[in-house]
Amino acid sequence: MERQGERERGELTMDPGVVAAWQESLEGREPVDILAWALDRFYPRIALACSFGVEDVVLVDMATRLRPDVQIFYLDTGLLFPETYEVRDRVVERYRPNLRRVRPALTVSEQAAEYGEALWSRDPNTCCRIRKVEPLQEVLADLDAWITGIRREQAPTRAGAREVEVDRKFGLIKVNPLAAWTSREVWAYVHEHQVPYNVLHDRGYPSIGCAPCTRPVRPGEDPRAGRWSGFDKTECGLHG
Ligand code: ADX
Ligand code: SF4
Repeated sequence: MERQGERERGELTMDPGVVAAWQESLEGREPVDILAWALDRFYPRIALACSFGVEDVVLVDMATRLRPDVQIFYLDTGLLFPETYEVRDRVVERYRPNLRRVRPALTVSEQAAEYGEALWSRDPNTCCRIRKVEPLQEVLADLDAWITGIRREQAPTRAGAREVEVDRKFGLIKVNPLAAWTSREVWAYVHEHQVPYNVLHDRGYPSIGCAPCTRPVRPGEDPRAGRWSGFDKTECGLHG
């Protein structure tokens, strides 16, 4: 007989009581234990969303130790920084991950032909929908759980993030193994394990997205202040 909350492969449980029990059992656990739990429970219908920011590369390091063939994907908007493609190449060389490049339906020039040049400077929500949210939706449709690098400390919008939660927007379980970690803990892991990281982090960019929408932050600013600076926008629609 199956215990409550157990499922056949591909039969997803999002029962609030079950998820609350998972949350309780994972609260305060080490990220690697949270990842191990998630991979045990959801593999192979689970994937790590990797933007090649420092948190995500830490998770690549941890997850590939646990399951070398774990699915990892990145949303290649076509507008990432050259430094991001550079760290992608170093990650590929180091970990040989099962990495999938996910591209939007429209190339940057097709988008310009349809919506006009530099849509991000006029309507970043539509641009993010086309280049990030819709491609993500397609990837997540085949999964029961996804893993992200979000941390509570990153932004007020993330202060309530749990180690495991129901992602109502995309209809699956979301696992945030680093939810409780501070930036200092992330960097300690990077140095201890010699994890490759984006050189932009050393140039004032704590949070790195698409090149047209990311600037360095000034001392004292919020770590995500450099994202969509000048717009009343703090999230791109991947998270809530
Ligand atoms: S974002 O939603 O504003 O872009 P942020 O850059 O802080 O968020 O990233 C938060 C998490 O979203 C990352 O740790 C990663 O799991 C996921 N993510 C963000 N951008 C991408 C991307 N381009 N490809 C895959 N995952 C991403
Ligand atoms: Fe477009 Fe900027 Fe969103 Fe990237 S972050 S998809 S360039 S609006």
